[in-house]
Amino acid sequence: MKAAVCERYGPPEVVQIREVPTPVPADGEVLVKALATTVNSGDSRVRALRVPRGLRLPMRLKLGLTKPKQPILGFEIAGQVEAVGPAVTRFQPGERVVASRGFDFGCHAEYATVAEGGDIATIPEHLSFQDAVALCFGGTTALIFFRLGKLAAGETVLINGASGAVGTMAVQLAKHFGAEVTGVCSAANADLVSGLGADHVIDYQAHDFTRNGQRYDVIMDTHGNAPYARVKRSLRPGGRFLMVIGDLWQMLVASRQKAVISASQDDASMTADNYRTLMSLAEQGVLRPVIDSVLPFEQIVDAHRRVDGGHKVGSVVLTFEQDDYTGRMPGGPTAPTSSH
Ligand SMILES: NC(=O)c1ccc[n+]([C@@H]2O[C@H](COP(=O)([O-])OP(=O)(O)OC[C@H]3O[C@@H](n4cnc5c(N)ncnc54)[C@H](OP(=O)(O)O)[C@@H]3O)[C@@H](O)[C@H]2O)c1
Repeated sequence: MKAAVCERYGPPEVVQIREVPTPVPADGEVLVKALATTVNSGDSRVRALRVPRGLRLPMRLKLGLTKPKQPILGFEIAGQVEAVGPAVTRFQPGERVVASRGFDFGCHAEYATVAEGGDIATIPEHLSFQDAVALCFGGTTALIFFRLGKLAAGETVLINGASGAVGTMAVQLAKHFGAEVTGVCSAANADLVSGLGADHVIDYQAHDFTRNGQRYDVIMDTHGNAPYARVKRSLRPGGRFLMVIGDLWQMLVASRQKAVISASQDDASMTADNYRTLMSLAEQGVLRPVIDSVLPFEQIVDAHRRVDGGHKVGSVVLTFEQDDYTGRMPGGPTAPTSSH
């Protein structure tokens, strides 16, 4: 099979498409034939070993000291079940699924195996593979943080970085949970963020939300330039700070501050449940996948370049030539483009 192989840390060009052996599903595993995947900010960070201050050594220990231990990156895959290993009962060949291998990666390939009891869920009939996969990374992250942060109906929430993969899902999910939402993004993305349901939008180039006198019950930082020390005066009493990205120092602060929530406190085994929630909300038309661009798998280097830029809008999706599924969810996603 074809796979995108990354044998050293470096710029997008270190990723090369090669022929590698197709994985064989072991006992309890499902083999998924890829029809869509994403290059997300996690893939780009790992490829470049671009990690927040103080975390380079722990990340090298986790991901590989001098090169990625798993040379095929890719967190998530949408496609069809090609085959199942012995003892698999929950999935059958031909079923449409979305799945994640998390930090085991391996989804930037024509086939990937996933444990049937792992992070895998059925894609509803009216959702395309591209839309399904575009929901996953940002959607699971937003769900995890809102659950940890106990976001409640009627609360006010500010999302810094509202137009990225995490931000676009966070805006919509927070509205769904009944919150009053303020999105912070560039002026170019203000209409998109309002269209996703944000009640207020702040252009970060024109206004500093930490100095406008407003206070919020929950502040989520997906960009990394609004740490707790900067935003704490913008939190109401009892407010929570959701630190989606932060450096080692900020993580140390987080461990000593009840108001600061970091994802390390969550149980990653919830992913399949989260996927089912996201697919169901999308099927009902509550959640809209936001797709920055759709590129053929062969253009994965361009996809990495786009993600490295730090200004993608939602998800960058890669398709495989067999992806001829034309179904669209009611209302349709944000128009995909491949012009970036
Ligand atoms: N902790 C976890 O479990 C976890 C999980 C997933 C992701 N993450 C991390 O979360 C971060 C966000 O991921 P993502 O995939 O959503 O990234 P992304 O799609 O690249 O989005 C980046 C966002 O940052 C905004 N931005 C750029 N400059 C900004 C500024 N000066 N002030 C405020 N916003 C600014 C961009 O908006 P404009 O384009 O409008 O400028 C865009 O909305 C990444 O660092 C990723 O590694 C952490």
